[in-house]
Amino acid sequence: MASEDAEQLPLLHLKLAFLALEPPACILALARKAGGGSVTPHIQNFILESCIGTNVGQIQDYTYVKIILKKVIAEAELSSDIVIDGLYEEFARCMSSKANNSSLNMSGKICKEISFLSPTYNNVSSNQVSLVARLSCSTNMLEGDTGCSLWPSSLFLSEFILSFPKLFSKKRCFEQLGSGVGLVGVCLNYVGASKVILTDGDASTLINMKANMEMNNLYAEDSELVKESKNKVECKYLSWEEASESDLWDCRTDLVLGADIIYNPSCVPHLVRVLSTLLGREDGRCETVNVGRDEEPVNEVPWNGATRGPLAYMATVIRNADTFNCFAKAAADAKLSVVNITGAAAPSSFLPYMLSYERSSVQLLEITSLS
Ligand SMILES: C[S@@+](CC[C@H](N)C(=O)[O-])C[C@H]1O[C@@H](n2cnc3c(N)ncnc32)[C@H](O)[C@@H]1O
Repeated sequence: MASEDAEQLPLLHLKLAFLALEPPACILALARKAGGGSVTPHIQNFILESCIGTNVGQIQDYTYVKIILKKVIAEAELSSDIVIDGLYEEFARCMSSKANNSSLNMSGKICKEISFLSPTYNNVSSNQVSLVARLSCSTNMLEGDTGCSLWPSSLFLSEFILSFPKLFSKKRCFEQLGSGVGLVGVCLNYVGASKVILTDGDASTLINMKANMEMNNLYAEDSELVKESKNKVECKYLSWEEASESDLWDCRTDLVLGADIIYNPSCVPHLVRVLSTLLGREDGRCETVNVGRDEEPVNEVPWNGATRGPLAYMATVIRNADTFNCFAKAAADAKLSVVNITGAAAPSSFLPYMLSYERSSVQLLEITSLS
C-alpha cells in the first residue's frame, strides 16, 4: 500500500464509522489508530472538519455528536498536551443547541449511513466505497423495537450478497422474512435482483422500512412509481402466524432470505411452516448458477448440493442453543434440509471499519425442501 494510502485509509475508516454511528468506544479506537496511538491535534481536526463539520446537519443526531466530542476531548486531554479550541467550541455549541430537542431525537430514531467498502480496493479512492445505505434505526433495541434496529446477521447477509452477486442478480423474485430496517433489500437491489420483496409482521417496523426504502430511492408510496409498478423494492406486511397457505403460495420466490429471525421459540413452528410453503418444489424455478465472487473461480451451488427448487439463506446468531435446536427439529420434521455453510460460503469483509460488528458470531444456513 502506498504511504499516502496507509495514512488515508484509517481516516476513511474513522469517518465511515462516525457516519454509521458506531459506539463511541469504537470511534475512539479508530481515532487512536489513525493518530498512531493517540488522538493527535491532526486527528481532532479531522473529526471536527471531516466527520462532524460536514455531516451534523445530515445525520441530525446531536446527542451522538455530543457524546463523541466529550469522549474525544477527555481522551485528548489525557494523552496529548494540545486540545484544539474548535473541539471545545463545537461541544459548547452542541450543549446549548436547540437541536438537542429535535424531533428525530424525540422519536427515538437515528439515521445510520452504512458504507460497504469493496474488499478488492486497497487504496483510498472513490471506487472503494461500493454501496451506501441510509437507514433510520431505533436508538433503543430493548423496548419492543427489534425490527427497527440493525442486527449483525443483516450485515453478514449483506456481505454475503455483495460477495456472491451472481447468485442474486437477474433472479425473478426475492423475499425476505422479518426484514426489519431493510438493509438486505438495498443490497439485493444493488446486485441487480429483478424483484425484491421485503416483509415484516410488525406494523411500526413496516412503516420504518418503507421510509428507509424511500430514503434510498427504492420505493415511493402513492406515486406514479406505484401505479406503474416500478418500485424497485416491494414492502409487505407478512406475519408468520397469520399468513395463509394461499397468501404464501402467491408470493413464492426463487430465493428466500432471513437475518436474525430464529430467536423466539413460540414463533418457530410458524416460521417453519412459512419456509416449508415458500420452499416447496412445485415449479422448481431455481437453477444451478455460477456464484463465484466477481473475479474468482466459481463454486458449484447450492453449497449443499441441491439443484432444484427455491432456496433459503438464513443468517443467524445462536444466542440460545435450545431455541436453535427447536428450529432444527421443527425444520427436520417438515422435511427441510438445513446446512450450515458459514465456512464454505464465507463472505468477504465489506465493513472493515465497523468494530462493533462481530462477524464471527453469525452463522449462515442454506435451507432447501426435501419433499
Ligand atoms: C431481530 S429482528 C431482525 C431484523 C432484520 N432482519 C435484521 O437482521 O436487521 C427480527 C425481525 O423479525 C420480525 N418478526 C418477528 N416475529 C415475526 C413474526 N411472527 N412474523 C413476521 N415477522 C416477525 C420482527 O418484526 C423483526 O423485524
